Amino acid sequence: MKNEVINVANLTFEYPDISVLKNVNFNLYQGDFLGIIGANGAGKSTLIKLILGLLSPDCGDITLFGGTLNDARTKIGYVSQKANSFNSDFPATVKEVVRANLFHEKGLFKPYRKSDDKKVIDALSLVGMAEYKDKLIGSLSGGQQQRVFIARALVGNPQLLLMDEPTVGIDAKSAREIMNIIKKLNQNGMTIIMTNHDTPTLVEASNKLLIFCEHGYEEFVTTSDLSIDRIADILAGKRVHQHV
Ligand SMILES: Nc1ncnc2c1ncn2[C@@H]1O[C@H](COP(=O)(O)OP(=O)(O)O)[C@@H](O)[C@H]1O
Ligand SMILES: [Mg+2]
Repeated sequence: MKNEVINVANLTFEYPDISVLKNVNFNLYQGDFLGIIGANGAGKSTLIKLILGLLSPDCGDITLFGGTLNDARTKIGYVSQKANSFNSDFPATVKEVVRANLFHEKGLFKPYRKSDDKKVIDALSLVGMAEYKDKLIGSLSGGQQQRVFIARALVGNPQLLLMDEPTVGIDAKSAREIMNIIKKLNQNGMTIIMTNHDTPTLVEASNKLLIFCEHGYEEFVTTSDLSIDRIADILAGKRVHQHV
């Protein structure tokens, strides 16, 4: 039996003017790749923020690694939507951007050690960016910046990686390379939760889908037997009956 990474039960959330998530349920085990699909404004980013504790649910529970978010925090990496938009003279090097994410492990003012540098270089190597370590972050292309932000999320060696539209605004070739990096991390056992505007690519990479349908309910399905046409049907409101 594989370890349960996340269990979301009866999750409901509304902003002051708008109800966004109604009774969302799903669970993932180690090595799962969940793709979250739905139109703009469906609540994908809101769900990710709830999992990260940046928002609090109105109802329902989110269990991470069998416990609370606070206990699980160091096991989780996050790449936010549009992380990759640095001004060209932003005064931080690639190495500094990645290393800054070790703060939560070390406490803010503890000195860095050699072993930290190794962690930074290892994370940059995973995304093919080690040779850029001393460049200014703002001097890189959007695709290169996004790889650095993935390295930043990886530096604490997370077991669960959350990514909100990681390839938006990035050229097609870089987007493919980034998806290949993430698929490889997943094949090596990392659990992934991702939203992506490119539905076919996301469906191909993931083994489970959470689909926010037009009529305000959600479906949680395994993707192995779903065609893109079928997914379009579900999005349009034709329910599936085989829950997993
Ligand atoms: N901070 C906020 N305050 C009020 N409404 C918000 C806020 N953030 C998002 N919303 C609204 O909540 C809905 C879901 O937003 P979001 O989760 O960002 O959707 P998605 O990521 O699927 O595009 C949208 O209607 C959006 O306008
Ligand atoms: Mg969003």
